[in-house]
Amino acid sequence: MPKTPKNNLNSKVTRRDFLKSTASAGLGVALAGSSLSKPMYSLQEETSETDSLNIAVIGSGAQGRVLIESCLRIPGIRIVAVCDIWEYSQQYASGYLKKYGHIVNVYENYNDLLSKEKNLDAAIVATPDWNHAEHANACMEAGLHVYCEKEMSNSLTKARSMLQTAKRTGKLLQIGHQRRSNPRYKHAIDRLIHEKKLLGRVSQAYAQWNRAKNEMLGFPKKYAIDPVRLETYGYNSMLEFRNWRWFRKYGGGPIVDLGSHQIDLYSWVFGVNPETVFASGGNDYYKNREWYDNVLVIYEYATSEGKARALYQVQTTTKHGGFYETFMGDNGALVISEVPERGNWAIREAHAPEWDSLAKEGLLKSEAAPIQKIDTKDIFLDVRVTAETGRWPLPVELAKPAHQPHLENFFKAITHGVPLTCPPEVGYDTALAVLTVNSAVESRRLVKFRPEQFET
Ligand SMILES: NC(=O)c1ccc[n+]([C@@H]2O[C@H](COP(=O)([O-])OP(=O)(O)OC[C@H]3O[C@@H](n4cnc5c(N)ncnc54)[C@H](O)[C@@H]3O)[C@@H](O)[C@H]2O)c1
Repeated sequence: MPKTPKNNLNSKVTRRDFLKSTASAGLGVALAGSSLSKPMYSLQEETSETDSLNIAVIGSGAQGRVLIESCLRIPGIRIVAVCDIWEYSQQYASGYLKKYGHIVNVYENYNDLLSKEKNLDAAIVATPDWNHAEHANACMEAGLHVYCEKEMSNSLTKARSMLQTAKRTGKLLQIGHQRRSNPRYKHAIDRLIHEKKLLGRVSQAYAQWNRAKNEMLGFPKKYAIDPVRLETYGYNSMLEFRNWRWFRKYGGGPIVDLGSHQIDLYSWVFGVNPETVFASGGNDYYKNREWYDNVLVIYEYATSEGKARALYQVQTTTKHGGFYETFMGDNGALVISEVPERGNWAIREAHAPEWDSLAKEGLLKSEAAPIQKIDTKDIFLDVRVTAETGRWPLPVELAKPAHQPHLENFFKAITHGVPLTCPPEVGYDTALAVLTVNSAVESRRLVKFRPEQFET
């Protein structure tokens, strides 16, 4: 059974236990006049206390910077140190932070950071997947709470070690499946699908992430890392260092990189982990990449209401349809995406119980846009059983960057003991479901999960 996210009992700490009396002075002033000058959400607003946390960021590449940007919008969060092996990323992040008044100590090696920074409360780990366990485990051992990006790890053994370290040290470990904290997704799944049974019995899901063809990432020549130093950190070349996702040593390919966000939702919606997975994929287009550039997947679930199936596809040579998730039941379907324009509505089946009362309660928007009628007189199609009653937009908006609520949940778990929305037990189960797709592609066989494989 998938976990109901909750913190380890021994990780419940009081404010006094974890807060080091640091001042958040300067943040508001530093942000004045910038686009970040009016944070849209504040820990203090909700709590009326001036909690402040000192944070280190390990891995300040593309995603590290996205998380830094969100942190800057959260009053009380002070980034004091950045660690990255690449000078380009060090300079980019420290320069960006300086603009907003955060003067950081910069490190190349996380061991130096952990031995020198004595006032840290937590670390954000946004290094490539294969480093997550090493970095997150070291931080937790050093007494820090950790926000670690997805995929929890590219290896289940390493993912399990993270789970065990979190349990043993009592430190919080949030895995970066940020949809788990997104109020739009929480409304759609917890409130509408689970509580209100909007869709009736949900027996099918479909999700996709299609991205257009693109070239391997390069780098400014003057920032090339010396091959010996690169090797010290385990990278075979600058090409692999920059494009780690595509190589087996460091990541899991597009199905893991992109698919894990959406496959994570299947067990949230169905309330159980998958029973089986079947997949087909290949390295059919690109010549210089190790992982599959396209994958089609079918999962089976044994839900409390009966059998359910979920399809998933990831494509890297077409962006057709973009990325979104659809959940289908006998009373309707719900389409949602992290980008609301791609999905933010429910569609009622004609025979389903009325939804007007839900709209009156504010749980759906009432202005259902009519589905265009198809004129069948010349094409002899039977559309009787496919008639739909229109789109009912979802009412919840997220007026802040997509990762911010997930970081807020993590910080509030530290300061106020609220449950994490993606604790390591959930991250582990998702990693198992997702990493197994690659084995299924390789074996060209249906793979059965054993219940004991999932974290119980
Ligand atoms: N949640 C999301 O929406 C989301 C989106 C993108 C990426 N991610 C995840 O974030 C992580 C980073 O992805 P990215 O796109 O930023 O990759 P990236 O290659 O742009 O950045 C990785 C950074 O880590 C640094 N690094 C590598 N090895 C290191 C080491 N041993 N010590 C310190 N620094 C090291 C690199 O120099 C680089 O700056 C991955 O786990 C990825 O799956 C999550």
